[in-house]
Amino acid sequence: MPKGGSVVARMDRVVNDFARRCRYFHEPLTRGRARVFALQHRLNTRQRNSVLKLKVATNCPDWDTRIGILRACAQEVIADDEHGGGRPHWQILEELGVRIGLRRSELRNAAPLPSTALCWAAWDGLMANRHWLEGIVANTCAERVNVPGYGTGLLRRRGWFGLERERWGRLFGLAGDELEFFGLHEEADIEHSELGWRAVERFARKLHMEEAVVAACERNLQVWEHYLDGIGAAGDALDQHR
Ligand SMILES: [Fe+2]
Repeated sequence: MPKGGSVVARMDRVVNDFARRCRYFHEPLTRGRARVFALQHRLNTRQRNSVLKLKVATNCPDWDTRIGILRACAQEVIADDEHGGGRPHWQILEELGVRIGLRRSELRNAAPLPSTALCWAAWDGLMANRHWLEGIVANTCAERVNVPGYGTGLLRRRGWFGLERERWGRLFGLAGDELEFFGLHEEADIEHSELGWRAVERFARKLHMEEAVVAACERNLQVWEHYLDGIGAAGDALDQHR
């Protein structure tokens, strides 16, 4: 990767590389992949927003940034009054899971895949005992892909969840509010990821951490790629057994 440009521009290039290479975005969505996504991502959202991101908040000395992290986590795990009609995001995803044919008990009793569990351990290392500025990059770099402008085609025009909204709609015949899990994120994730990008803009140079935050962005997105590849593989196995 070229070294030039502002630190935020360099992080944007790292996100762009991730958007272009991650197979999950480019391979077709199948019923199995969608089911595994609902099962795993409900768990992942809960783990990240009730455990991992809070460790970053704990380490963050800038009060406004710390409260911003807590507010974003509260929307994800407790209640989103702004975009989610007072429901947490994992519950909205649970409703989507039911809509594509999963039983609620299946969703509630789901266990993390080995790949998901491995990612949680990796993120723990990248978020809990790290400088908070690397941590906030970890908190927000994947939500950044939901902001339009990265990758190519529909991903670039609408962001990752814009792409998911489109292909889930086509595969399951869902529309409008039935896909609100993806719709709400187009807005929420612009705000959530801005929190990270703005903190980097304000603090990276002052703290001499420009190289560290770009490296954190790369490493965290490698973990995200492993997480999504794991969902893809488990989804494909499910498709073969149906
Ligand atoms: Fe969310």
